Amino acid sequence: MVSTRPAHAPPVVVAHRGASALAPENTLLAYSTAIQRGADMVELDVHLTRDGRIVCIHDATVDRTTDGTGEVSSLGFGELRRLSAGEWFYGGEVPPSLDPADLRVPELAEVIALVRGRCRLLVEIKGRQPELTLGVVRALREADMLSNGAAVLQSFDEGCVRAVASLAPESTRLQLTPEGFELGPEAVEEVASYASGIACHESSVTPELVRMSHERGLLLFAYTVNDAARMRALMRLGLDGIITDECDRLAALVHETTPRGA
Ligand code: G3P
Ligand code: CA
Repeated sequence: MVSTRPAHAPPVVVAHRGASALAPENTLLAYSTAIQRGADMVELDVHLTRDGRIVCIHDATVDRTTDGTGEVSSLGFGELRRLSAGEWFYGGEVPPSLDPADLRVPELAEVIALVRGRCRLLVEIKGRQPELTLGVVRALREADMLSNGAAVLQSFDEGCVRAVASLAPESTRLQLTPEGFELGPEAVEEVASYASGIACHESSVTPELVRMSHERGLLLFAYTVNDAARMRALMRLGLDGIITDECDRLAALVHETTPRGA
């Protein structure tokens, strides 16, 4: 488990759904673009298909981000792979220079193969199926990405984060909290009993929350921060990770504010 960072270290640059301002979210193109544009970590969302494959897509349905319709859980992997997860982003006309294979709904295994050794992963487990959590833990453990923090797990579902703690005590895991969630001393104390950190909405961040989290040895990440002034303010507060659609913007800010040789 990776739960501490050197004082004054810059935040981890986390590309939300990949470089989602530059490429269609949660595609291999978005993840490879994030790596090229300076992300330290790629965030992605996982669901299970009808036939039990772990795929990377944000919504429970394919309607918004593909040219198909229906619940991910009601589609077989083969059916899902025939869909384009890129057309919506390019207004129906994918540029001919792009490889359609990079614009399908990816399987977690493919993403692991793409990023391993190049970039860390932040895997958000959507839904509450125990077999999804177990499958994600197995895949990351087999890739040797769990005990060394190369992959971090997170979920809004407390039961899911607790399940990760039990299945993989060696893992780094974050409790996601929604916008408006009250993160007082008791909540922070509770999270510290089963997680390594908190990933909260950026509006929840206060100097007090940063202090309490770090005193309890918790990492503190915030989402989703695209404004440069807000990125700077959160960096000054000492956040451990900032999750952004604009990873190139955050990477440039980190580069410009980090002393040479640090
Ligand atoms: O990583 C934080 C963020 O991904 C949580 O919200 O809806 O984008 O999955 P959402
Ligand atoms: Ca997410």
